[in-house]
Formats: sequence, structure tokens, C-alpha cells
Amino acid sequence: MPISARNLVRKMRGGAQSHLIAGEDGENYVVKFTNNPQHRRILINEWLANAFLRYLQIHVPQTALVQVTESFLSQNPDVYFTLGTRRERPVPGLHFGSKMSVNPDKVAVFDFLPEKLLDKVENRVDFLGTLVFDKWVGNADSRQAVFFRAKAKTWTPLKGDTPARVGFFAQMIDHGFAFNGPHWEYNDTPLNGLYFRTSVYEQVTSLDSFQPWLDMVANFPTNVIDDAWKEIPREWLDQDEDALEKLLEGLLKRRAKVTQLIEDVRRKRASAFPNWR
Ligand SMILES: Nc1ncnc2c1ncn2[C@@H]1O[C@H](COP(=O)(O)OP(=O)(O)OP(=O)(O)O)[C@@H](O)[C@H]1O
Ligand SMILES: [Mg+2]
Repeated sequence: MPISARNLVRKMRGGAQSHLIAGEDGENYVVKFTNNPQHRRILINEWLANAFLRYLQIHVPQTALVQVTESFLSQNPDVYFTLGTRRERPVPGLHFGSKMSVNPDKVAVFDFLPEKLLDKVENRVDFLGTLVFDKWVGNADSRQAVFFRAKAKTWTPLKGDTPARVGFFAQMIDHGFAFNGPHWEYNDTPLNGLYFRTSVYEQVTSLDSFQPWLDMVANFPTNVIDDAWKEIPREWLDQDEDALEKLLEGLLKRRAKVTQLIEDVRRKRASAFPNWR
């Protein structure tokens, strides 16, 4: 069920010129619009990536389709893109929303953490699973995450549980450049997808450190891909049905390649994995 946009909260940073919008459900969504300055395909990349990461049990925000109407746009005149000296409004319709898991008025959400705090992130190991994912989908961007303090029942379900407690928590965001963004191709540049602070990879001692995600991607179920695909609104696809089918066929073939892609990262940047000897 789509969420209706209620009011603009503020504009967000970044190339897609997303906007933080309160929905009729009372939640806050970082919304990327179909006619954003990057590309319409960015929304499809986000939708698929979030679904796949969820299957890999890596922490990502909840996602939603956000319905924008003419009346919302006229009541919220600050919702627009800046293109050089020009302004352009989003079109009415369904857009991509990434839900804020905490109320940003009450809980600070950080784009970056200092090294000392990064060490304390409870689900730090998610960065290893996410690297496997980023290599698989050919993320052409570096890894991005947001951080906040929260209480979770489980931090890293696949690596054994920890008791519920408050701690620093990372959520993986910004998958617009999976599949090389608007290009929908696999461009295997070894350093793509790495997090800029490579201390998150310190615990890597061998390929096994990337388990269970390496095996999960190698055996990634077709139906998880199909289900995510079916949820994509037709209006996001435009003339892209065939191109998307081709892209996802390529993705299935690449399941067998991910181990090699991780080894390529090591070959190119051994310093990212100082404890892998
Ligand atoms: N679910 C979320 N919860 C909290 N903050 C979020 C969420 N999604 C996005 N943000 C915030 O919105 C900002 C913009 O999002 P994002 O990085 O996805 O946009 P972008 O335009 O693709 O950026 P870039 O220029 O890096 O490609 C992020 O830097 C982050 O601060
Ligand atoms: Mg970004």
C-alpha cells in the first residue's frame, strides 16, 4: 500500500535531491522522485537493492512507495529540484521512500561516525555482508550508511544473537548506483563498494569472514528477485521492461562470480583487509 505524502520536512543532501517528507502514516520518508536529476532508474535500483539486502538480513531502512499529488505539490512549494539556474517540480505519482527508523527530532542520525564510535557499532559485521552484496550488484558508488542509537532485539541475526540493549546501529542506505546507476551494466572496478573507513573490515581474516553472505548470494533464490521485481510500479519502468529483464538475468549469472570479485578487492587494496594474510 502506498503512503500518501503529507508535508515536506526538509530537503536532503545528495545528487538525487531527495526530500524528507512526512507521510499520512506519521512516519518520515527520504523520498527520491522519479524525475530526480540522476535518473528514473535510480528508484528501481533502490527498490531491488533494499529487497535483496533484507533477504541477506542486513539492516536497511523500511521502504515504501510514496504517493505525491498535485495538491501536495501546490501546498508544499519548496518541493523542487534545482537544475543550474532552473527549478523543476517532481511529477505527481508514486516515488521511492526510505523510512527513517527514528524520529530525527528526538534521535540524532549521523552520516558519519568518528573512528572510535565506529568501532562500537553493534552490527559492524553488516559491512562485510554488504560488501558481498555491493560486488554482486556492481555498486558503482562507495558504501554509504547512517548511524543512530537504538535498541534492537538482534543486531546481526546471522552471526548469533546478543541481548536487547541500546547501542550504535548502522543502516545501509543509498543504492542508487547499484547496477552502475542509470547505465544498468556491471562495471567491476575493484574498489567500488568499499566503505571509506576501512576499519570496518579489520575483522576479515579470510574469505570465510564473508560468510554466510557469500553462500547466500551464490544461492540467491530467484523468487526473491522476482517478488521484488513484481512490486516495482509500472510508471517507474517506462520502456525499460526488456532492459530490466536482461539486467536481472545478468545478476543471476553473477552469483557465481562474487568470491572472485572479493578476491579482486584484496588484490587491488590489500590494506583494506590488514588481517587477511
Ligand atoms: N532511511 C534513512 N534514514 C535516515 N537518513 C536517510 C535515510 N535515507 C537517506 N537518508 C539521508 O538522506 C541523505 C541522502 O540520501 P542518499 O545518500 O540516498 O541520496 P543521494 O542523492 O543518492 O546521495 P549521493 O549524492 O550520495 O548519491 C543521506 O546522506 C542521509 O543523510
Ligand atoms: Mg548518497
